[in-house]
This record gives sequence, structure tokens and C-alpha cells, in this order.
Amino acid sequence: MAELESSKKYQAKQEVFFDDGREIELLHFVYGKPNIEEIRGSPEKVLAAIDEYARTQKYLMNVGEDKGRIVTDLIAEVKPQVMVELGGYIGYSCILFGEAVRKAGGKKYFSLERNPEFAAVIASLVDLAGLSDLVKVIVGSSDVAIKRLHANGTVQRIDMMFLDHYKPAYTTDLKLCEELGLVGPGSVLAADNVIAPGNPPYLEYVRSTCEQKRSASKGESVNGVDKRFEDRTSKQYAKREGDAKLDETRVGNPNLIYESKLVKSFEPEGVPDAVEITRCVGEE
Ligand SMILES: C[S@@+](CC[C@H](N)C(=O)[O-])C[C@H]1O[C@@H](n2cnc3c(N)ncnc32)[C@H](O)[C@@H]1O
Repeated sequence: MAELESSKKYQAKQEVFFDDGREIELLHFVYGKPNIEEIRGSPEKVLAAIDEYARTQKYLMNVGEDKGRIVTDLIAEVKPQVMVELGGYIGYSCILFGEAVRKAGGKKYFSLERNPEFAAVIASLVDLAGLSDLVKVIVGSSDVAIKRLHANGTVQRIDMMFLDHYKPAYTTDLKLCEELGLVGPGSVLAADNVIAPGNPPYLEYVRSTCEQKRSASKGESVNGVDKRFEDRTSKQYAKREGDAKLDETRVGNPNLIYESKLVKSFEPEGVPDAVEITRCVGEE
């Protein structure tokens, strides 16, 4: 695969690369643009302003244009009525995918974001993009939000889910959605950063057969993959918010049949990465 075009590259990632005031700085950058009235109501122009900040000012941990296209193409094909993203940050994926869901005739896009300051940035930029009717930003830890959305009947089924939050929570949150019946036959999952930084336990889970998953839920090992892994992002979350408590005992619904494939692309600063696309094609 070729390189990411240099004109598209975001600033390089430094040791500290989020939650240092840059998210509010981004709001001032966007709202301070001389053509703000032309930007208002245009998801494309809001995304372009965010990209401009990340290319000329400071890195932002957005999915970016290249990996984003993989998911927008998928949205156009799947036409989800309800889409959920885990991890919204400043709203880039929310605006890009929310607009794609709207164009595909979908009804609701839920952006789940644990950090209340980031969630406020998402809400502000979503409003600027004119997507407030479609997008609902939910502040809090993804597992708590998923349980509440299910319990109060707001979400009965997730047609598409974009996983882009605390890497170890990809598997536990997917299993939670399976147990609640939110993810089932017909649901499609797109998981970011499965190469950079990587997520072996998640890939192992979505690529396992039902039999392998049933064995794993009885405590037998599957494929011998080491389940311990860590990345810089997870460490930085932990520094501010304490170690996230994950329910490692979840078994999910091991009878769901998945077909899963890796689609290669780039992180917006040019590092090779990929999105894992997983389709639930039935139940045994
Ligand atoms: C990589 S960023 C998301 C980027 C965004 N999807 C985009 O492409 O524009 C990850 C985000 O997940 C949030 N996050 C981490 N753990 C979370 C959790 N358990 N529940 C909800 N949000 C979480 C972080 O605060 C951070 O904003």
C-alpha cells in the first residue's frame, strides 16, 4: 500500500496528544474562522476546519479522512437506521458518520463519550454542522450508557456500531451489546485502530467460531493469544480518570456467527492502521 498523501497528514503525535486544552483551542479555531457563516450547516466544511486545525496546529486523535471513507462506504451499503459510536472525542467521526447515516435515510446516531468536556465539544460542533436532530451525544462510560439506552427502550437494536474508545473495552462492550440483544444477526461492526495500537483480544473474539467462543466462555483458551496489551492512549486515560473497571466475566452471546475482515488504511498522521469490519450473519 502507498503512503498517505503528505498534504493530508495531521501533525505528529507527541507524548501528550489530547486533553491538554487543545480541544477547546479547536473550538476557538473553528468558530474564529472568517467564513464561519459559510461553515454553519455544512458537515463537510466543519470537517474541513477540524482537519485544517489538526494539519496546521496540533494533532487530534480523529479517525481521519482515509479510514473514515471505509466506514462511510459501509454506511452507504448497510443503511443503518440506528448507529452507535463508542468514543466521540471532539466529534469528527460523529459528524462524518452522522451525515452518512442521514444521507442513507437513517434515524439516529448516538455518540457515547466518557469525558464531559469532550462531549460538550462534540455537541457544539454537531450543532454547527446542522446535525443536532439526528445526533444524540451521551456523556458517560460506554457500558453504563449502553445499559441505560437499552433499559429505557431508547435503543432496541444497533444496526451499525463504530468502536473507537478504550481499547480493552471493545470486547467487553460488544459482549454487553450481545447479551442485551442489541447486536445480533444483521448488525455490522467497524472497529478502529486494530493495527495501531492494535487490539488482539478483540480481533481474536470477532474472528472466532461459535465453538471457539463457547469453549472460551467455559474458561478454555482460544487460539493461545495473549490477552494482556496496553497502549499509550489507554495509559493517558488511566492517568486522568483512574483505571477503567471492565467486566471481564462477560460471555456475550457466543452463538452469534461473525464474518470479519481487516481493511487496511492509515492513521491521519500517516501511520499504517486498519479497520476491522465484522458482520453478524446469523445465530447457531
Ligand atoms: C480515539 S478517541 C475517539 C475519536 C473519534 N471516534 C473520532 O474518530 O473522531 C477515543 C475517545 O473515547 C473516549 N472514551 C474512552 N473510554 C471510554 C468509555 N469507556 N466510554 C466512552 N468513551 C470513552 C475518550 O474520552 C476519547 O474521547
